[in-house]
Amino acid sequence: MGSLFLTKEMIEAHIIKKRHSEKEEEAALEEEEDADPCECADAHESRDRESTEGKAAKDIAHSVKVECAVCDEPGARVVSSFVGYFNARYNALKNLLMRRQELKNLVSIGRFTKFSNDRDVSVIGMVSGVSKSKAGNTVVNLEDPTGKIMVIVKDQSGIGEDELLNDEVIGIHGSTFNGLFFADSIVLADVPLPTGVKTVSDHVSAVFVSDLHFGSRYYNKGIEERFLKWIMSSSGAQVKYLFICGDVVDGVGIYPGQDSELVEKDIYGQYGLFEEFVKKIPNHIQIIICPGNHDVVRIGEPQPAFTKEFLPNICDDENVYLVANPSYVNVHGFGMDEGIKVLMYHGYSFTGIIDAVPYLRQKGLRNPQHVMEYVLKRRHLAPPYGTTVGMPEKQDSLVISKVPDIFQTGDLHSHAIDRYKGITLISSSTFQDQTPFMDRVGHIANPGKISVVDLHTGEARCVDLSS
Ligand SMILES: [Fe+2]
Repeated sequence: MGSLFLTKEMIEAHIIKKRHSEKEEEAALEEEEDADPCECADAHESRDRESTEGKAAKDIAHSVKVECAVCDEPGARVVSSFVGYFNARYNALKNLLMRRQELKNLVSIGRFTKFSNDRDVSVIGMVSGVSKSKAGNTVVNLEDPTGKIMVIVKDQSGIGEDELLNDEVIGIHGSTFNGLFFADSIVLADVPLPTGVKTVSDHVSAVFVSDLHFGSRYYNKGIEERFLKWIMSSSGAQVKYLFICGDVVDGVGIYPGQDSELVEKDIYGQYGLFEEFVKKIPNHIQIIICPGNHDVVRIGEPQPAFTKEFLPNICDDENVYLVANPSYVNVHGFGMDEGIKVLMYHGYSFTGIIDAVPYLRQKGLRNPQHVMEYVLKRRHLAPPYGTTVGMPEKQDSLVISKVPDIFQTGDLHSHAIDRYKGITLISSSTFQDQTPFMDRVGHIANPGKISVVDLHTGEARCVDLSS
């Protein structure tokens, strides 16, 4: 007969095993999803592998696999399009939440009323309202495709009432009494516990920038010159991948009075300036570019990739990848190395989310790592509808369906490098100085901070090229 006592080693072994099984389960599900490649998947891979020790990045093979958001055909969006869109969001997040062990005795909201008093029960639903009762309790209105329910949230539920926003999908475990549902705990889809930081065998690195804003009077040419000098110097010799996360130009007609803040008022001219910059980057560096809200593609997310019309001189270059916003991009996957999965999202929803959540508002726009963590916990890039222009597509591409190794955003013109559950968080800086428009919307520019991730060690650092 075995011992009834658990040693510290046995408990640690159990925790490690649990972390691995969670990660493996999520990876298996992602593999299933990957089995059906999307239409715009793009793969450039060089397979002539040999030892690369001591070599510069220009002599090392590359691999880039792109998974774009699927954008539906253009056409009228009607009420049923929105119903389908929110159902798609609910189902995608429900599938993630159903794996959470905390949600015991899961039932649909439609079946909930059949349960007798005091029974442990869990539901998964979309938040349709949060309010305070006369007695001072927090009341959450929750709905799923089968019905609606009012949930009374206890203080010890593990999540602050002011953190819950409309349209996010959550799990609630609690008990029933006289037809009322009292929540003991609120469960978010979240990302699994990490098994470590993903790395690759080769000594290569990736660079992350965003919000270049070519065409703006406040574009900082000095940062561009220092960046090009750095990337072509020995300091940049290991750079193999460059991620540019939207707002590559300042755009035209983005806000009232923008004309007076532009030096290049023609949109084609602005993209021409951007192309000149891209052409100066050594062609062994693979450049991945997504649009942002200042760019010429539709503002509704997912935003489709740039077309040949605006980038005719670089769109056919072998080292240039034009991707949607958001997109997953796997780089440097060879043989035993799975590669590094990067989630690129410009971040247009973040200002609205920060404004809506008191603790994020307190952290301010200069600390974007907190809102990045917030959306990862919810597995959705813009939980409340309206913080960005969400296109009612057949799928909700803003659901964080896969766990990235690196999560890159921009938009706030701030800069941050952090880590959440093994995921490297990068809020990319800008090439543009503070503008009068940014003064008005409360953004504070922190230009010229370049984020570099050593893909061999997983270490992320900032290279300050601001002066
Ligand atoms: Fe921007």
